[in-house]
Amino acid sequence: MHCFRNFVTGLYKKNNTLLLCITACFCMMSCDKQERTWSVYKADAASSSYSILNQINSDNVQHLQLAWIFNPGDAPEGRRQGGSQCNPIIIDGVMYVASARHRIYALQANDGKQLWSFDPYNGGPGGGSFRGVTYWEDGDDKRILFTGGDNLFAVNAVTGKLITSFGNNGRVSMNIGIRDDPDKISIKPTSPGIIYKDLLIIGNEVSELYGAQPGYVRAYNVRSGKLEWTFHTVPKPGEPGYETWPPDAWKYAGGANSWGGMSVDDKRGIVFFATGSPSYDFYGADRPGKNLFGNCVVALHAATGKLAWYYQTIHHDLWDYDLPAPPNLVTVIRDGKKIDAVAQVSKIGFLYLFNRDTGEPLFPIEERNVPASDVPGEQAWPTQPFPLKPKPYSRQYLTVDSLSDFPGAPHDSLVSFFNSLRYEGLFTPPSTKGTLYFPGTIGGSEWGGAAFDNETNIIYLKSNESPEIAKLVKIDAAGASENLSSYDIGKNIYTSYCASCHKPDRKGDEPQYPSLIAIEKRMTEAEALNRIKEGSGKMPAFAPVVKGHEKEIIDFLFEKNDKHSSQLERDLSEIQQNRLSNIEVKTEQTQSPDAVTYLNTTAYAQWKDAKGNPAIKPPWGTLNAINLNTGEYEWTVPAGNDSTLQQPGAAFTGLTGSPGPIVTAGGLVFLGGSRDRKLQAYDKASGKLLWETVLPGVASSTPCTYKYKGKQYVAVSVSGNHESPAGLIVAFALPDQ
Ligand code: HEC
Repeated sequence: MHCFRNFVTGLYKKNNTLLLCITACFCMMSCDKQERTWSVYKADAASSSYSILNQINSDNVQHLQLAWIFNPGDAPEGRRQGGSQCNPIIIDGVMYVASARHRIYALQANDGKQLWSFDPYNGGPGGGSFRGVTYWEDGDDKRILFTGGDNLFAVNAVTGKLITSFGNNGRVSMNIGIRDDPDKISIKPTSPGIIYKDLLIIGNEVSELYGAQPGYVRAYNVRSGKLEWTFHTVPKPGEPGYETWPPDAWKYAGGANSWGGMSVDDKRGIVFFATGSPSYDFYGADRPGKNLFGNCVVALHAATGKLAWYYQTIHHDLWDYDLPAPPNLVTVIRDGKKIDAVAQVSKIGFLYLFNRDTGEPLFPIEERNVPASDVPGEQAWPTQPFPLKPKPYSRQYLTVDSLSDFPGAPHDSLVSFFNSLRYEGLFTPPSTKGTLYFPGTIGGSEWGGAAFDNETNIIYLKSNESPEIAKLVKIDAAGASENLSSYDIGKNIYTSYCASCHKPDRKGDEPQYPSLIAIEKRMTEAEALNRIKEGSGKMPAFAPVVKGHEKEIIDFLFEKNDKHSSQLERDLSEIQQNRLSNIEVKTEQTQSPDAVTYLNTTAYAQWKDAKGNPAIKPPWGTLNAINLNTGEYEWTVPAGNDSTLQQPGAAFTGLTGSPGPIVTAGGLVFLGGSRDRKLQAYDKASGKLLWETVLPGVASSTPCTYKYKGKQYVAVSVSGNHESPAGLIVAFALPDQ
């Protein structure tokens, strides 16, 4: 019935009767298909995070209530509570989503009842960042494609069974076809690939340390699993961009990967993605040059993988300022004419807008001089691009007046620390005395990206304001000394490289950084060592740091003050045979031998005051609405609140968070993701908060919205708590009339 109603509404809006007739016939044959409003990660191939649904709207959203909860209940015994970043997709009444443990579930979209589940780890602990699955169909052949660890899987969307004709019995190793020996590397995509015809186009996550693999973008045949094309993001001789690196860099340099997802323009046959920084994130003496295609928006011919155009937002990145989310394919109005464009969010708070055909900026971008590096060997690029419009959506410059001044706060020590740092604004290179950089690696936009409203050409985005310090230390300063006990050496390594996140007392900073106390209850030594070497989510890979100090770091973490450990030795020898542990062997061979290496010992951790509170004044997170026709802001509001730090009479503090907003034809913007555990609905026209609910955990994914059997739902992944360590999928709807 609702299907018929949609059709009638369409009749009034459009006047192409032939088109309507076709739509109507299609609709009557297969009404469910009409409801595919969120069948792709971030809603659609344009990564719009926009829905045409309006049953839930600004007039009734205050009545929104819990519809169902799904508890995967799959947390490994004693494991820390996880949060899934998976944005659910919904096809014909079935929701496809992953748990924090990274098992894939098919759920009935109206009640969350499980239809099937698939465990890509075959009983293993799983985990790590995973943001979504991809759907493809041809008639009755319906497939769900997703990655688990370094494998790409294809399962039957109806049964959840592996499609054995795909790849090697339903799976393809993502390690094959990257630069180095597939048995010695581990390529783990975190965001889903996108479909163009019979191709799945996908990027990956690679290490951000020395010896990282290059982040090639690849297309696989959806039917066979065959690798069809590869785009070298670190170009080989003769390829465009090769001249922006040292001649041999393609043999050893890595990163420049697209980890945030992709968008595709079917009509043009172009796939769009954005890349992260080249490795190592904070020191680039082994990669002088602009380093294409690091930090680029890239457009490729989807059928062949050939370059259409690119724009580099940061040359020779030294700050880990990855472009963190898929480009939004948007349409804007200029001088009365519609222009198809591409909008790209960034960690530094600039929004870039390009002509979709040519890659030309639609607002002026100025190349400005930026500070030089004072670290031996480093050649920071002398200029960087500054978009003149829209204005940055995060603060980009801090002064003493920006430092926090809560009552009783250690303000003076903040000021003296601030004054001790190197800081000449945006793009001040990392230094050995410590450089302040801001918005920081979790600043500006994160993987949730932006939502674009096709009706109004307004883009909605969450911004994070999170300063960080880049303090470089020579890598061989890892603390090894013959006079120290193994435990003490481990402690030194911990203090230099791990304490910034896991804290000097190892208690961590939940929920962002886990406590490492009593770690033996949660994982074996071998598992811990693997995690340390490979990293996971916001935990960087530390293979080169712990190399040769495996016993020491384990002795410290597992409190083995002087006991001799035969278990450790057994585990170590097992790991030596493990192909994953061989990454650094390859590194030694391929890294240019004379490279001096520095490590940023304070990397990826927010700068806080001595009490653990943010070092800068609020807002720490905002929600922004920018009109892309004009480049002007419609509104900005703080998003999230820390009521303990909110000053009397002051606005909400805003909070950091990685998930993105979604926008609907019902006049609403939904956003979660901050540690106040709220899911909120804002009026998209004014930014006014219209509805909120406190969830059992943090809303750890970008939400989705869909309609099934006449009812609209909003669903989101929620991180685990004490009762449900596996996390939850929670759906909301209006009460029945
Ligand atoms: C930039 C912040 C950061 C740094 C620096 C860091 N970690 Fe982590 N670590 C994390 C995060 C975040 C996780 C959780 C990852 C996840 O959920 O997949 C984690 C997880 C872990 C775990 C697994 C804990 C569990 O219960 O699952 C271990 C062990 C660990 N880290 C050890 C270390 C060691 C040893 C170092 C230093 C060599 C280190 N970490 C440095 C952020 C960091």
